[in-house]
Amino acid sequence: MPTPHISAEPGQIAPLMLMPGDPRRARRIAEGFLDGAQLVSEVRGIGCWTGTWQGTPMSVMASGMGIPSISIYAEELFREYGVQRICRVGTCGGIADDVKVRDVVIGEVAHTTSQVATLQAPGLSLSLGASFTMLRGAVDAAAEQGLNARVGALFSSDFFYGTRPDIIKVLVELGTLGVEMEAAGLYFAAARHRRDALSVCTVSDHLFDSSEDMSAEERETSFEKALQVAAGALLA
Ligand code: HPA
Repeated sequence: MPTPHISAEPGQIAPLMLMPGDPRRARRIAEGFLDGAQLVSEVRGIGCWTGTWQGTPMSVMASGMGIPSISIYAEELFREYGVQRICRVGTCGGIADDVKVRDVVIGEVAHTTSQVATLQAPGLSLSLGASFTMLRGAVDAAAEQGLNARVGALFSSDFFYGTRPDIIKVLVELGTLGVEMEAAGLYFAAARHRRDALSVCTVSDHLFDSSEDMSAEERETSFEKALQVAAGALLA
């Protein structure tokens, strides 16, 4: 069963998966958040660990950056390892005026200029949405922590260093909250396999207000809140 990008044996990956972008963050989640996590795959330095959270088996594995990277891992996890739910837990850049650095944004839908949305059928404008069950679980988990998480649209860009401010402007006018690079690919893979997916993003920067820098300590605390929200969504 090992795939080109995952070397775990059948049954070594849990049906519930936390998915940060950064492989080192995946390791920190395995060591500090999950209980009894064991390394089950390490192809290309992308570790996958399986342990438990609140007594339920849960895995963590990084997506890498961008839609092509998360699409490979999500596809192999859903198709070959029977993963049922993936919750991306990453960062985004704020673009809405009222979204601030350190906020948690729950991606109800993901807009994208990527081909994942346009290749399916000519003239089709594919809607890439999160799992309703996971979305509800995330909102409940946020409320339990007294966290005022924002729920709305993300823009999954193919560019970190974008060249089209006109697209961002239109998306802001349409109420989009933040820009990141993976949610649309994950939501497409989930739709294809009729599985559940969600993206929970901590706002790490704001495209139109760079004055508020997160300290390393603050980043860790905000990330911790997002992690609780993501795990709550997986268990919902
Ligand atoms: N652009 C794309 N992805 C991001 C950003 C950004 O500004 N910030 C965090 N992830």
